Amino acid sequence: MNLITIDGPAGSGKGTIARILSDRLHLNYLDSGAIYRVIALFLNRNHIPNDEEQLIKQKIKDLNIVFLKTKVTLNNDDVTEEIRSEKIAKTASHISSLKSVRASILDLQRSYFQPPGLVAEGRDMGTVVFPEANKKFFLTASTEERAARRYKQLISKGFDVNIHDLVSEIQERDDRDINRKISPLVPASDAHQIDTTFLSPDEVVNAILQKI
Ligand code: DC
Repeated sequence: MNLITIDGPAGSGKGTIARILSDRLHLNYLDSGAIYRVIALFLNRNHIPNDEEQLIKQKIKDLNIVFLKTKVTLNNDDVTEEIRSEKIAKTASHISSLKSVRASILDLQRSYFQPPGLVAEGRDMGTVVFPEANKKFFLTASTEERAARRYKQLISKGFDVNIHDLVSEIQERDDRDINRKISPLVPASDAHQIDTTFLSPDEVVNAILQKI
């Protein structure tokens, strides 16, 4: 069974690429960041602080998170759009550094590896969640290009954002994701690295298909 992982920082293009790839290859798709975002949304809605690890661990057990290709639900409530805000991204980045949060969603993430195979994207897909993957990719791009992509994406979804704030938020988030102790954002030793700064989504997909 095909298992392809695509990791990288915010705005590196992994979401767009993983989706296209899963369509072209007729594989299942997992956006692992969406799971962290749903937990973050739940905590924000319930005014639970980011650092209450024991309480968060307890609450996660009762959450019913379902991730489909075009829809994400939390306890049957469609939260697909709401989880895309920068506020939620920031909380997601904070809680993703908690060991028990990462551990408690491992099985959920792995459950998406089903026939005919999976394209999984995130930060630690190739290193921790699916180390056995047969093809691993790590996408990068300059901070400015990543902020510009995020800007377009968020504006098109109706969020009110400013490019300067996005650059600093992305830098802050990278810093947290790269420097955390558990499952930091690092390429797997056997991952192919692709700098997508000057590449179109099609060019990245083609580069990946060639390797596959
Ligand atoms: O990919 P994203 O922007 O939706 O991810 C939101 C946050 O979730 C990100 O800043 C870090 C965390 N995350 C993670 O720690 N591990 C993953 N596999 C995916 C996301």
